[in-house]
Amino acid sequence: MITAGPTREFIDPVRFISNPSSGKMGYALAGAASRAGHEVTLIAGPTALKEPEKIRFIRILSASDMLKMVIKELPSADILIMAAAVCDYRPASRAGKKMKKTAEALTLELVPTIDVLKKIGEKKQDKFVVGFAAETDNLIENARQKLEKKNLDMIIVNLVGVDDAGFESDTNKVTIIYPDGKIENLPAASKKIVAEEIIQKILVKIGKDT
Ligand code: CTP
Repeated sequence: MITAGPTREFIDPVRFISNPSSGKMGYALAGAASRAGHEVTLIAGPTALKEPEKIRFIRILSASDMLKMVIKELPSADILIMAAAVCDYRPASRAGKKMKKTAEALTLELVPTIDVLKKIGEKKQDKFVVGFAAETDNLIENARQKLEKKNLDMIIVNLVGVDDAGFESDTNKVTIIYPDGKIENLPAASKKIVAEEIIQKILVKIGKDT
């Protein structure tokens, strides 16, 4: 099971908060896993990408939808790769009708969403759980902390805010960190190539690389 794209957290029927995730890395991972002969379920937030062929595809909108769908689908998965950029906060309330603008400043109250990966990591049993970390600084240390806090088997970290990696780019440069402290730097490449390498590394880890 692979997740991709951003989530949307609505303020009112016509406005939301979100992030610039394009979904490209998650879709590339789903393609790579499928080409490697695996059954894939792709759970994606709103993206401009074409629905992939030959892959079970589920569309979601919000962080709360993502949580529900991941929990629902998890029993039939061996591996979870959370490549989605799930929003960390949502508006405390969602107006039922379009809010009218006034001349006054508007303050939005945001409340944290549930961390899907952390929740799954707490009782993952024999599932292999992979997280992503998009960072602007302190990459390795931040990613290590996420790996530990979310009880992951692998975390893939990339820099955002640079030209050839991250959210909207067609290429990526990632570092993989394992629970034993091992670090692997993958060379910069297209998201397709990076995805194929990540899938191979996961298969090696779970002993299914043949
Ligand atoms: N994630 C999740 N549920 C959330 C937020 C994040 O499952 N509500 C997952 C992402 O899919 C990703 C990993 O957690 O695989 C790390 O996400 P990231 O936003 O980098 O980390 P956070 O834990 O949210 O920390 P911060 O935003 O403070 O860096």
